[in-house]
Amino acid sequence: MTRAFSGIQPTGDVHLGNYLGAVRRWVDDQHDVDSIFCVVDLHALTIPKDPEVLRSKTLQLAQLLVACGLEPETCTLFVQSHVPEHSGLAWLMECTASFGELSRMVQFKDKSDRNDFVSAGLFTYPALQAADILLYDTDVVPVGDDQRQHIELARDVATRFNNRCGSDVLVVPEHVIPPVGARIMDLQNPGDKMSKSLDSPQGTVLVLDDPKTIEKKIKRAVTDTDNEVRFDVADKPGVSNLLSILGAATGRDPEALADDYEMYGPLKADTAEAVVELLRPVQQRFADLVDDPATTTQILSTGAAKAREIASATLDRAQRAVGLLSPS
Ligand code: TYM
Repeated sequence: MTRAFSGIQPTGDVHLGNYLGAVRRWVDDQHDVDSIFCVVDLHALTIPKDPEVLRSKTLQLAQLLVACGLEPETCTLFVQSHVPEHSGLAWLMECTASFGELSRMVQFKDKSDRNDFVSAGLFTYPALQAADILLYDTDVVPVGDDQRQHIELARDVATRFNNRCGSDVLVVPEHVIPPVGARIMDLQNPGDKMSKSLDSPQGTVLVLDDPKTIEKKIKRAVTDTDNEVRFDVADKPGVSNLLSILGAATGRDPEALADDYEMYGPLKADTAEAVVELLRPVQQRFADLVDDPATTTQILSTGAAKAREIASATLDRAQRAVGLLSPS
């Protein structure tokens, strides 16, 4: 069976971009592929965090992923730091990726420009991400468009590692990016992607925003100066973003949807309604789970044990292949 692996950081709050670009696909496909999902808390440490906030965000994110529809009896859900093999393989990947490759990562450039303190971990982050993926003999990595470069790096590093060792120790993965919803833009600045870290609360729809807030944010979305509804990302980024959101929420093609609208008002109203309805069941399930941390903690503990079985075999294989003396 094809194996899928993906991860999400416990920083900020989960937004509509995370949901439409990644999480919803994980939920939809979990019965068709062997699915492993990870709350990547080690990645969150690349930018300094308040320890208590990180701890509670990690649990809350796991609860939200279950509320989104990940079924613990179907897929494997765990926290990255609970499987120490991630750090073990990351070192081998750091020694396989080149300084030049890591320097070309667009997300590093973005994040290092926005932070006064730039940790070494922020720079080597894609090597840890490669380790996350490669530990599980992953075939496909379902992600949004912004992760494309990181997955390509994971492929290059796996190939180089295999070439150096002279055998196919690591499986070379492919990314899977959804045709609609892979790049949801900020509602106030449609030139920037919707993001947890951008300081744009009005431009970011959170999965846990109440219906009135969602409606307000979408109705106030920046559109374009004329009044024509047309899907054209370069010329009409604001309207195209609304069409993408509505398309991803309803399973329709954004270009075809444009023909149904002559004015921005009805497009915004329908988009807001579709998003509210899409998120309503998630919010209801989250409300049931949030006061019962023990259920999610148990899911994570079972998930880590399952993940570790696969990860430890891969790490052992990689360590032997590279020439480390085996302890037994
Ligand atoms: P993160 O936590 O930033 O995002 C989680 C997922 O959400 C997608 N995404 C979006 N999709 C559409 N529109 C947007 N505006 C948008 N913003 C985010 C991301 O593409 C991602 O799929 N480095 C990763 C986490 C990670 C990972 C991994 C992913 C660590 N190890 C291994 C895959 C495999 C990250 O920071 O995602």
